Amino acid sequence: MPVTVIVGAQWGDEGKGKVVDLLSRNADLVIRSQGGSNAGHTVVVKGTTYQFHLIPSGILEGTRCVLGNGVVVDPAQLVKEIALLEGMGVDVRSHLLVSDRAHVVMPYHPRFDAAQERARGSRKIGTTNRGIGPAYEDKVRRTGIRMGALLDREQCAKRITELIEDRNRQLERLGDDLVLDAAAERTALLEEAELLRPYIVDTYPLTDEALRKDARIVVEGAQGTMLDIDLGTYPYVTSSSPTAGGACTGTGIPPNRITRVIGIVKAYTTRVGEGPFPTEVSGEIETLLRERGHEYGVTTGRPRRVGWFDGTVARYSAGVNGMTAMVITKTDVLDTLDAVSTAGSYRAGEAVFTYPPSDLGTFASCIPEYETHAGWKRDISSIRSREELPSECREYIAHLEMLVGVPAAAISVGPDREETILDNPSLLWD
Ligand code: GDP
Ligand code: IMO
Ligand code: MG
Repeated sequence: MPVTVIVGAQWGDEGKGKVVDLLSRNADLVIRSQGGSNAGHTVVVKGTTYQFHLIPSGILEGTRCVLGNGVVVDPAQLVKEIALLEGMGVDVRSHLLVSDRAHVVMPYHPRFDAAQERARGSRKIGTTNRGIGPAYEDKVRRTGIRMGALLDREQCAKRITELIEDRNRQLERLGDDLVLDAAAERTALLEEAELLRPYIVDTYPLTDEALRKDARIVVEGAQGTMLDIDLGTYPYVTSSSPTAGGACTGTGIPPNRITRVIGIVKAYTTRVGEGPFPTEVSGEIETLLRERGHEYGVTTGRPRRVGWFDGTVARYSAGVNGMTAMVITKTDVLDTLDAVSTAGSYRAGEAVFTYPPSDLGTFASCIPEYETHAGWKRDISSIRSREELPSECREYIAHLEMLVGVPAAAISVGPDREETILDNPSLLWD
């Protein structure tokens, strides 16, 4: 039952793209399960950087890749991404398929995203403005359009026009007076659908056959556990389920076929957008982590908020995902620090929490209880075995394992595919 699920263990941007790329060389199929072009997954191979918003990171290894039914697809973005990658010499055409059940991010969805953010004022979420929330709203409200429906030009042309005209009226009520040209938008959308026609199929038979043959499947999650619509810091979350359960509903893979759940855990913490972040730091350490870690959003270019490793968050993430192992990333970013802190619990008034409290107000009032560890003050990016790491770094990694309660299968020491310590590959693949 070799199905491996990759989940972000924090607030996204943990390095999932790099790990999916690493795993895909030993995989027959990589399926993205949720989210849309709000994701930004980076893979660096021999100095060349590839950035993915929709296409699974497995595409670089020539593995069959699928955009699963749980994804919301912006056709214009997908056409652009395919062209960009093909231009870089990546053969997308022969390897990518898109579930016909995946929902379409319509031209009006980013406009609703922006209008809703404006209406929230000081309570804004800080979304990526990619129309993700509004696209999932339409899906749940049962007024969405699925990728498969776009292929029936006759049937959907009228529906698209009606929808755009209806949404123009709604947008006007929200104070957005930039009316979408229904005819032009419909033509553009149908042209994009034509370009995507070869990719759009019912992916169930393919997934079912892969499961029957015990093929090696990697499920690529986007975002992170704390951005999960149910389990994250609601309402400062995304509109899908980045946790392991979402890997099932977003792909059609049943829960009892999942063999491994690998949590991708950054050696410190980052967050983009609004919402509580107990271990956030400011000042000198903030600048150091952001600049050494290049902590700027792939999708929006926004500076990411940074903070110390939060064991409370990572342990919760191990729990709700059923993590069987973790991959610790960006360890090298801490190389120059004299001392590194980690939090194992929070205090809120008299109460001590070893998990993130569900009540947002309580969570926002949590003060982390820190431990300080000696820094290793050495460049570790060329090290390829755990034993060769400086003792302080080994102790730091062991401490993270203790806090999370899950072994580290690999330790990433740089952005490049090669800059990885594969400590226990049997936890990653058969
Ligand atoms: P994702 O959204 O989880 O795939 O992560 P992102 O790609 O948004 O952000 C991770 C960033 O860190 C990317 O720029 C990666 O190239 C980079 N990265 C990944 N692993 C490492 C690492 O171990 N060390 C360093 N320095 N950078 C890394
Ligand atoms: P990857 O896959 C980090 C955040 C946004 C915002 C909230 C809601 O690269 O890890 P949305 O546009 O989804 O409605 O925004 O979620 N967010 C991410 N943060 N990494 C991501 O993806 C994210 N995708 C969404 O910043 O706070
Ligand atoms: Mg990212």
